[in-house]
Amino acid sequence: MKRDVIIACDFASREATLAFLDKFTDVKPFVKIGMELYYAEGPEIVREIKRRGHKIFLDLKLHDIPNTVKKAMAVLRNLDVDVTNLHAAGTTAMMQAAIEGLTREDGTRPLLIAVTQLTSTDQEAMERDLLIKEPIDEVVMHYAETAKNAGLDGVVCSPLEAGKVHDRCGQQFLTITPGVRFADGDVGDQKRVMTPAAAREIGSDMIVVGRPITAAEDPVAAYKRCVSEFVGE
Ligand code: C5P
Repeated sequence: MKRDVIIACDFASREATLAFLDKFTDVKPFVKIGMELYYAEGPEIVREIKRRGHKIFLDLKLHDIPNTVKKAMAVLRNLDVDVTNLHAAGTTAMMQAAIEGLTREDGTRPLLIAVTQLTSTDQEAMERDLLIKEPIDEVVMHYAETAKNAGLDGVVCSPLEAGKVHDRCGQQFLTITPGVRFADGDVGDQKRVMTPAAAREIGSDMIVVGRPITAAEDPVAAYKRCVSEFVGE
């Protein structure tokens, strides 16, 4: 999949989301729909945004027993999204079951991406609450490799990890990275950020950008700036 900017549509309702997307008249950005919007509006919001011609990353981060994830993925495959995801912590059996569920009768399927350790989890919390004693960087790389071996297409990771993930898992293994900010923009609550140009240089395949675009005075201009810095178009 070619390098692209994905807008995180972190809105609470259909109305707010569509009002935002209405601003885009000459371009159809790739959008990410997360739990908040999906749980508020259900699958119809996905169908509606798809009908409008956008590519969709459905960010629901599934994590359950293999059979349940397989059946849930079989439902999601009918929504015709382009990318969806799960937690690598569900283990190889769950990831393989997810691929089975997601694969359509004609053999095609949306791209499937793994979350490794959430960026909100730090070394201390991982050791204390999850009883994982290895260095967190190593845990992230191990989860990425496990996801690759299970047949997944990539991981969601910090842009700071993207280069290392490619070294371990190959250039074809996708890295989708949030935590992107313009050099002259607000950092907000993100701790480790990178500009779109730096994310490109370090090897991110796709960046997920929320507030620098959604909260901008001119979201379309902010999106185009992001594309120009990241994709170079
Ligand atoms: O507004 P902002 O650009 O910070 O939004 C980033 C998006 O990426 C949000 O939807 C956030 O939930 C998501 N995300 C993240 N860090 C992760 C995984 C997902 O910021 N580790």
